[in-house]
Amino acid sequence: MVTLNEFIINRQAEHPEARGDLSRLLHHIGVAAKIVNKKINKAGLVDILGEAGGINVQGEDVQKLDVFANDHFTAALQASGEVCAIASEENQEIVTFDEGLSRDGHYVFCMDPLDGSSNIEVNVSVGTIFSIYRRLSPEGEPAALSDFLQPGTQQVAAGYVIYGSSTMLVYTTGNGVDGFTLDPGIGEFCLSHPGIRTPDAGRIYSINEGNYVHFPMGVKQYIKYCQEIDPASGRPYTSRYIGSLVSDFHRNLLQGGIFIYPETQSAPKGKLRLIYECNPVAFVAEQAGGSATNGRIRTLQLTPEGLHQRVPFYVGSRNMVEKAHEFLNTYH
Ligand code: AHG
Ligand code: MN
Ligand code: MN
Ligand code: MN
Repeated sequence: MVTLNEFIINRQAEHPEARGDLSRLLHHIGVAAKIVNKKINKAGLVDILGEAGGINVQGEDVQKLDVFANDHFTAALQASGEVCAIASEENQEIVTFDEGLSRDGHYVFCMDPLDGSSNIEVNVSVGTIFSIYRRLSPEGEPAALSDFLQPGTQQVAAGYVIYGSSTMLVYTTGNGVDGFTLDPGIGEFCLSHPGIRTPDAGRIYSINEGNYVHFPMGVKQYIKYCQEIDPASGRPYTSRYIGSLVSDFHRNLLQGGIFIYPETQSAPKGKLRLIYECNPVAFVAEQAGGSATNGRIRTLQLTPEGLHQRVPFYVGSRNMVEKAHEFLNTYH
């Protein structure tokens, strides 16, 4: 069984020119994931459920686990010495590490520390999503906002942790996607899903149909298409929606499917945030052979305008995203 650290060292050996700093950073992400996982596994027995009090920049009630995950990933990233600043769903502005090793870190880190917060209370899978860029600002100076507003194509690594029936770390550094399952008996993430490829076609569509009346006409027509009876194309498809992006995406990544969060009345630009939800998930999707768009262009080509910018999100099996686009282009 290959552990995460062995895998990182083996990959590192394939790139002798690399300094090893991304490898060290990935190791620290694994450590933070184990700490958060330990807490989540006891949620309900320790004071980690419910609201922390306060509203975050998204206007959401902050959950205790949002804060716990944010604090522990921030601490692990600072300890790694490889990251000079972070952007998080839970922080209004970027947090720069201005002293010690971290000040000269070569990377900036974007994260959704706890994705699917509404599911914590009811014991449904949640996750952590992360995205890593090389800093653009001069070393020795505090990181700049512009370090975080790079298009998703510039990501050097991205992935997610899913705290589910088992805890998995899934990530890419641009050479495919690999999945590691935590073996709690030895406290190690072990390679369980090498070289994940997502099926070109799938039979699962994931969307919150509660927002149907506010969907763009193209989305309404695509949903109708998914529900029509046509055995030759495997329709009607199956509707699956968990309400945690990481969980819905991970299931579709492995089985094939499409996840859509379009514009709605309450979220006229979509709900999901570009730099710490859509871009990292899009990078993983594309590296696994899938695609991700805002309904028109590749998510990874969007130039972020702000840390918490929201965009419509269509992600998953290539053929399904293309079919959804056909309906968006036909119906306005
Ligand atoms: P977060 O918990 O990090 O704020 O993200 C929640 C997101 C995402 O995980 C999920 O796909 C989506 O919100 C669900 O939104 P609806 O409840 O509006 O369907
Ligand atoms: Mn989220
Ligand atoms: Mn979150
Ligand atoms: Mn949130």
